[in-house]
Amino acid sequence: MIPRAPKLTNDILHTYNMRHLISLKEQSADDIRNILTIAALLKKKYRAGKPTDLLRGKTLLMFFQKGSTRTRISFEAAMTELGGHAIYLDAAKTQFALADFRDEIRAAMRFGDVLMMRLMRVEDVALAASFDQMPVIDGCSEKYHPCQALGDILTMAEHSGGLKKVKKIAWLGIENNVSNTLKLACAKIGIEVALVTPERNAASVDRELDTMANATGKVKKVLDIKKALHGADYVHTDTWMDTEYFENGKPKPEFEKEYKRRMKEFMPYQLNASLVEKYAPKAGIMHCMPMHVGYEITRDAIEHPNSVIFDQAENRKHIQKAILLWLLERHRR
Ligand code: CP
Repeated sequence: MIPRAPKLTNDILHTYNMRHLISLKEQSADDIRNILTIAALLKKKYRAGKPTDLLRGKTLLMFFQKGSTRTRISFEAAMTELGGHAIYLDAAKTQFALADFRDEIRAAMRFGDVLMMRLMRVEDVALAASFDQMPVIDGCSEKYHPCQALGDILTMAEHSGGLKKVKKIAWLGIENNVSNTLKLACAKIGIEVALVTPERNAASVDRELDTMANATGKVKKVLDIKKALHGADYVHTDTWMDTEYFENGKPKPEFEKEYKRRMKEFMPYQLNASLVEKYAPKAGIMHCMPMHVGYEITRDAIEHPNSVIFDQAENRKHIQKAILLWLLERHRR
């Protein structure tokens, strides 16, 4: 029978024999806390110059259909520090372009121990996971960015002096793949989430995820910025348009009109210094990057004393290490 992508529901993922990290729907609050604890420990060891080579002889396969700075570097550096090796595969330079994905991916999985994929469609990530040959990680699809969410929570916990001290976050701009996984992870571990989002990226919608997040009672849509930011410990944002719409830091000509439309619609929700100083003067400023300065965020917000954006970027590496160890169940050794 020709393998097909399973419908990506929480139930399906629980039937697998091995751990996968795709949407965070499949992870419990305890799983999330465990991964964060492992990351904090690994970071401490790394900073103390202690070895963390728990994945000697292991190979991470990294498959990219889209560009990346942080995800690629953080996973690659993570594998180096864990004593293993990472192989980077650019989809355009492989045989994936001319063969059936189902065949190429099953062959590729014969060569490694974990597969991280940044694909156009999460359906293909789920298909790879359904073969249950090795743990599969969604390295950012149209619907999810679980590694980013976990890294962001690690950053907030560090800057607040403990996870329990993070009570509320606000997300400004568009609801998308990054906000999906961040809101779900936060809601699962008891952090309040205010979504200041007049619009949603249609491709990112996952009703099952919304239902799970909403059932916690922790997620609220609040378009009144003053109310949304009141009591927020951190204010997050992300690009108002997907990275595929940009070239050399500017919108591609065919997306100019949409770029301008969004500029008009989202400008009241831009993350800038005056907004933070007015409504949440103690809140940390966060952006998952890459940033479009002057669009969803301003230079004065990036350089603001409250900004934790570059710690947030660094923590991608520490959380990737924890994710890899947790997936391979190596963290107890
Ligand atoms: N935030 C993030 O995933 O960055 P990259 O797209 O550079 O990997």
